[in-house]
Amino acid sequence: MSVATTAQRPAEDLVDPFGRTVGDLRISVTDRCNFRCQYCMPAEGMKWLPRSEILSFEEIEQFARVCVERFGFESIRLTGGEPLVRAHLPQLVERLAGLGVDVALTTNGATLRMHAKPLADAGLSRINISLDSLQRERFLELTRRDELDRVLDGIDAAIDAGLAPVKINTVMMRGINDDEVVDFARFGRERGVEVRFIEFMPLEAGDVWTSDVVVPADEILAAISAEFATEPILRSSEPAERYRYLDGGGQVGVIASVTKPFCGNCDRVRLTAEGQFRTCLFALNEFDMRTILRSDAVGGELEDQLVEAIRSAVGTKWAGHSIGQVNFIKPKRTMSQIGG
Ligand code: GTP
Ligand code: 5AD
Ligand code: SF4
Repeated sequence: MSVATTAQRPAEDLVDPFGRTVGDLRISVTDRCNFRCQYCMPAEGMKWLPRSEILSFEEIEQFARVCVERFGFESIRLTGGEPLVRAHLPQLVERLAGLGVDVALTTNGATLRMHAKPLADAGLSRINISLDSLQRERFLELTRRDELDRVLDGIDAAIDAGLAPVKINTVMMRGINDDEVVDFARFGRERGVEVRFIEFMPLEAGDVWTSDVVVPADEILAAISAEFATEPILRSSEPAERYRYLDGGGQVGVIASVTKPFCGNCDRVRLTAEGQFRTCLFALNEFDMRTILRSDAVGGELEDQLVEAIRSAVGTKWAGHSIGQVNFIKPKRTMSQIGG
């Protein structure tokens, strides 16, 4: 199944201009989604990429192989849109897991009852499920889909399939769902999943989704601590600050993308569904890998071209995002097109 390679040399460290070693690849496998979350997409009228523009599994594997074998990447996360609307995703997971890296997935969870087991069997190690409300009416309003029960069942399916850890991504929004902090904390404790409260990143899409919507992580933590005693867990390079419930009720996290940006530790790069390479979630420039992947070059020559293109792209990685500052420029793509 796997594509032949000539790479047998030791991996080179891929270091950006700020001394950060890049080693985490987020691959968007589709721009499509079965939800229409208000902060992410309009209700109607999204224009999807034609199939021919989307990278094939072979192309994705080829690109990932170079990242792993030539640059020593250790983790790959599949994102979307909604990655589970891409047909035969377990086949891609199997190819990527075969590279010997940690393969994870971020999903809205709606179809996990059907997909969790095949994904786990294919070698998926971890899963993050997005869920912004535990209230049916509110969930419907936020996602424009009446799917709360299916997502809750999907969470159970992920646990049943042995995916571990299962994390829940909850974007906190002022006046929209910030009264659910304790409900979500309790939900995580009861189901044995790690809830991560995420500060909403205002991308100035429309009048509603502005910085007024951001709920600072400290406020979220205070609300949790008022109900359940916690202690911090030593932090690694990941975006989430994690806390342990002192009574053994598991863990909870906050991702303070706005009030405490974690860009200084950022080790990520991204590949969009149509093969554009991005060195930041908010990058304004993209590097076209699809043209290289679809060129006449094969084997070692193709790999060398990709290595060169990746190296020079990472040479442009900036220090961090400037959300909330006057110089912030919104990327042309929506979150769903970048993969979150
Ligand atoms: P873990 O490896 O399980 O910790 O996952 P993750 O947090 O890296 O990924 P996930 O896809 O679950 O995203 C969680 C939140 O982090 C979402 O709100 C993403 O939009 C946000 N996020 C992911 N990558 C970046 C990034 O590079 N910069 C910023 N600012 N936010 C990011
Ligand atoms: N701010 C923070 N998180 C966001 N996500 C999507 N848009 C935003 C935003 N503006 C989250 C989704 C999903 C992850 C991929 O990114 O809820 O959990
Ligand atoms: Fe789909 Fe995720 Fe965007 Fe919601 S946030 S519309 S689930 S891509």
